[in-house]
Amino acid sequence: MKEANLLDGRLVAHQIHRETMEVVQKLRQHGVQPSVVFIRVGQFPPSELYVRMKQKKAQELGIKSQVISFAEDVSQNEVLEKLYQLNQDPSIHGILVQLPLPSHLSEKEIALAIDPKKDIDGFHPINLGKMLLGEKDCFYPCTPLGIQELLKRYNIEIEGKEVVILGRSNIVGKPMAALLLQKSKYANATVTIVHSFSQNIKEHCQRADILIAAMGKARFVTKDFVKAGAVVVDVGVSRVADASSHKGFKIVGDVDFDEIKKIASWITPNPGGVGPMTIAMLLSNTVKAAELSLFS
Ligand code: GUN
Repeated sequence: MKEANLLDGRLVAHQIHRETMEVVQKLRQHGVQPSVVFIRVGQFPPSELYVRMKQKKAQELGIKSQVISFAEDVSQNEVLEKLYQLNQDPSIHGILVQLPLPSHLSEKEIALAIDPKKDIDGFHPINLGKMLLGEKDCFYPCTPLGIQELLKRYNIEIEGKEVVILGRSNIVGKPMAALLLQKSKYANATVTIVHSFSQNIKEHCQRADILIAAMGKARFVTKDFVKAGAVVVDVGVSRVADASSHKGFKIVGDVDFDEIKKIASWITPNPGGVGPMTIAMLLSNTVKAAELSLFS
């Protein structure tokens, strides 16, 4: 049997970056340079890497970017003060606070403190609420938005399909369900979310035309979870020990790629699937913020 086709996130992200760059050039003609601030707290190596990747790509696209790094023991007030200052600075269009944060900081309060018009992550309750209502003049969380865009650009039919999402995080699972439920051409799906309290997880997954694994458990989804011909999207990023690697670990997804590619019709590679799409949507949201700032 033929192997699954790849949903190549690197390739599609490259196309989106080109489109974003065109908008950056148009904005420049109006005297606006899109600008983003990334905030990091403490020394969590994966977050340091993600922020470096986001900043590098922003620079390549002509988006001005700045990283603010706080020490692990920074107070909630110090972070909030910085956010209020950035909210008031008209030269800054986008603000992102890299998660996870140390446990003494409140992610909820920090999300609330970012001006919704600069909330390129789409984590502010106003943006999440607007997304739920299907409004467009707002920001949607980048990973679910990137997955929807990836499916769209490969002409994967979503309307009327059974979508099963593994994981109910505020960043991926919940907004993913909200996006694919919308009354629109690249949504209109029948959506199920399964989570740690769900019963018969495997049986739910076996019904899926589109299976989106986002629970952060290394290779949890094995081939017996997947219906032949299903579309499989792997959001997971887990570090597992690997003595053969000089780093001592390797990154694996939530999906057993080598087995599932034999039965799925489409599958995301990991890395190279969802990750690059998340960055592409983040920078696309940044230029959207700059564009919207022209009209407010
Ligand atoms: N940590 C993991 N994913 C994300 C994301 O999309 N945005 C932020 N701010 N932090 C993250």
